[in-house]
Amino acid sequence: MIANTDNRYGLVARLFHWTIAILVLADIALGLLGKFTPRTGDTVAFLQVLYSTHKTIGVTVLSLAVLRVIWAVSQPRPVPIHPERRFETFAAEAAHWVLYAAIFVLPLSGWVMHSAEVGFAPIWWPFTQNLPFIPKSESLAMTAATVHWISGIVLAVTIAAHISGALKHAVLERDGTLARMWNGREAGNGSATHVKKSAPLLAALVIWAFTIGGALTVFAPAHDVAATSQRSAQQTAGWVVRNGNLSITITQIGAQVTGGFENWQADIVYDPETGTGSVKTVIDTTSLTLGSVTDQAKGPEFFDVTNHAQAVFEGDILRIDEAKHTATGTLTLVGQTFPVTLDFDLELTNGTATVSGGTLLDRRDFGIGAAYPDESSVGFSVEVLIELTATLIE
Ligand code: HEM
Ligand code: HEM
Repeated sequence: MIANTDNRYGLVARLFHWTIAILVLADIALGLLGKFTPRTGDTVAFLQVLYSTHKTIGVTVLSLAVLRVIWAVSQPRPVPIHPERRFETFAAEAAHWVLYAAIFVLPLSGWVMHSAEVGFAPIWWPFTQNLPFIPKSESLAMTAATVHWISGIVLAVTIAAHISGALKHAVLERDGTLARMWNGREAGNGSATHVKKSAPLLAALVIWAFTIGGALTVFAPAHDVAATSQRSAQQTAGWVVRNGNLSITITQIGAQVTGGFENWQADIVYDPETGTGSVKTVIDTTSLTLGSVTDQAKGPEFFDVTNHAQAVFEGDILRIDEAKHTATGTLTLVGQTFPVTLDFDLELTNGTATVSGGTLLDRRDFGIGAAYPDESSVGFSVEVLIELTATLIE
């Protein structure tokens, strides 16, 4: 039987339940393993795979959750097996609502965190890494991390109660509660009614209001900053990048190939009065796409993203003339640091800065492509273009 009836879970509901249950339990285990793994040079590659797996499973849970809810609203919900035990029935149904909400809150808070920061572990899904309207912002990433962590605790406690309840029914009472979810056996009297439907839902909403409200207020400052593994140390100051494009163009066998980095974060301090400031840009090199040579470009001969997942440009901004500016500093790429000057135009309108500029790099300065000592296969120059809009935060 594919569909539910009043006293049986159909095949689809059971498949959703157990697939999501396994993925959620796996993700909790991976999240905790990541949290308690020391961050050293030796564990970086392991953590990268761990977090990519964690994030990919989490986004899968979110997709399945959407389908599950669409399915569930089209189905009757099997009635409680012991409707006369009013409190127990209420608690079980409230736990179900908490769990339904959790399979949205956990992945979404994780995804907001991933979008707001320059992560080193991509989501292995073919669609976009970043959620729309989420700026690259350290403080937003911290907030999302706190929501993720506190919600994770609420989820774990609820699952523990949920599993204990299921085991109590299966082992002590030997009624059909677990069998009804496990193999679709019928149990319960179809004419029984649910407890007042809105009461457990309301209880779950109150629990989530306290969880998210608490994460945004009382728990926010207490979150262990050191444990926020992937985040770079610096704070976003002054300007927040709203959207932008960081592209590179290389020459391969005489033909130009253009690609770009999807994941990067720029922390900009700029005083329009004096035309001076500073910029620090952290680029997630694993987010590079470069046409058909993406894999080669990320490989050990070139960007070597497994060993050097981040590139960093740090420089001082100086106004040359009206819109014309330079950022003079250093670029660290594949572990090599070299002086670089970026020329750009900066236009300010109504508190929004529009920046567009670039620079020309020589791959030999960073020892990139040493196995290609001439330009016959890969040119020496790499053109970097950056375009962004940023707004001032007070
Ligand atoms: C079913 C979904 C998910 C569950 C149950 C889950 C659970 C957890 C847990 C228990 C932790 C360890 C505690 C902590 O550091 O907060 C964690 C960490 C983390 N999760 Fe998730 N997660 C889920 C989905 C996601 C998704 C979809 C993403 C990103 C796209 C994500 C990104 C992260 C990151 C980046 C961390 C490390 C947090 C830090 O360093 O502060 N998670 N998750
Ligand atoms: C391995 C551990 C688990 C066991 C033994 C288990 C067992 C059960 C059982 C027996 C039911 C049916 C309850 C009833 O008929 O009143 C149920 C329902 C449910 N479980 Fe689990 N579960 C487990 C893990 C999870 C996890 C990890 C989640 C979280 C996402 C979850 C979410 C739910 C939800 C939302 C329902 C209500 C389904 C509905 O009525 O629409 N379960 N579970």
